[in-house]
Amino acid sequence: MTRIILMERPGGPEVLQPAEITLPPPGPRELRLRQTAVGVNYHDVYVRSGLYQTLPLPGVPGIEAVGVVEAVGSEVTGFAPGDRVGYVSGSYGGYAEARNLDAALAVRLPAGIGDAQWAATLMKAFTVCMLLHRVRRTRAGETVLVHAAAGGVGQLLCSWARHVGARVIGTVGSAAKAEIARAHGAHEIILYREEDVAARVAALTGGEGVAAAYDAVGADTFDGSIAALGFEGHLVNYGQASGPVAPFTPALLAGRSLTITRPIVFHYIRTPEKLRAMADETFAALAAGAFTPIDPLELPFAEAAQAHRLLEARQSPGGIVLVP
Ligand SMILES: NC(=O)c1ccc[n+]([C@@H]2O[C@H](COP(=O)([O-])OP(=O)(O)OC[C@H]3O[C@@H](n4cnc5c(N)ncnc54)[C@H](OP(=O)(O)O)[C@@H]3O)[C@@H](O)[C@H]2O)c1
Repeated sequence: MTRIILMERPGGPEVLQPAEITLPPPGPRELRLRQTAVGVNYHDVYVRSGLYQTLPLPGVPGIEAVGVVEAVGSEVTGFAPGDRVGYVSGSYGGYAEARNLDAALAVRLPAGIGDAQWAATLMKAFTVCMLLHRVRRTRAGETVLVHAAAGGVGQLLCSWARHVGARVIGTVGSAAKAEIARAHGAHEIILYREEDVAARVAALTGGEGVAAAYDAVGADTFDGSIAALGFEGHLVNYGQASGPVAPFTPALLAGRSLTITRPIVFHYIRTPEKLRAMADETFAALAAGAFTPIDPLELPFAEAAQAHRLLEARQSPGGIVLVP
């Protein structure tokens, strides 16, 4: 029997319930994975709460994990039992101690970094690669705003943006988190629950505003992000930890010829070629010192609900993984 975390309906963390299934053999193009670390992401919270209705119910949430290949389907090439792989997938099923996975989704992971670190880092690092190098290319010398800079994506984003030469203004929810964001590369910090973000950005940029704002907080920060942008500035709204952004008119962007995007990382790795390119660029950036892997809080596999509670209470240390 294989342990899974099953969700029968949307709701609070308590809807994440341990269960058991019998796994069928892997299909011709699948790998059988024994998972060693399962990443818990904010995306999982949106799925669990019902904000995203993208997981058919009852279903197994989870979009990221690391594991060891135990068996390969008859048409699989390039993988063999014993290989360590990771994956990021919008097709769910990650909250499981073993699973069958489309081999096209598997990524061989560079050595020297533990399974838990990879399970906490892969999805977030791909996201940051997308933000800084796909959605809009960040240039040396420009100033960018990073909301929730001490969070999982936020830490990597501060670090990698600084690495390419940007000046990083990070926002955080508490003074304790300011130190975390600074340690990951933020040059300036704004306590965004106490201070006026746009006014502080104006003061820090001599009135110019930022070239780009990276905002996955959503409802609470959208207006401030728009107001913090300079001429031709770009807002990347890539999440909504505080709730979805209210509808707005394009006229909002006209005052300074602003642009806005709403990217999803799964779309940027939707073909084997795109996934390969994303993995290659991310692993090269890691090797070049653009960021360090996240050292996550490791919880027993059955404690998925507790992992969600910590994330929603803003108490994740940057990453949480479930260890089967
Ligand atoms: N579009 C994509 O493809 C993509 C991919 C990956 C992640 N994301 C998004 O990136 C964001 C960060 O993800 P993560 O997994 O790394 O999580 P995280 O940043 O570690 O946790 C979320 C953070 O958001 C802040 N926050 C602000 N208002 C909040 C509220 N009302 N409730 C809870 N948190 C609130 C908190 O930081 P403070 O305490 O500093 O306020 C909290 O720590 C999420 O919004 C996620 O959906 C998007």
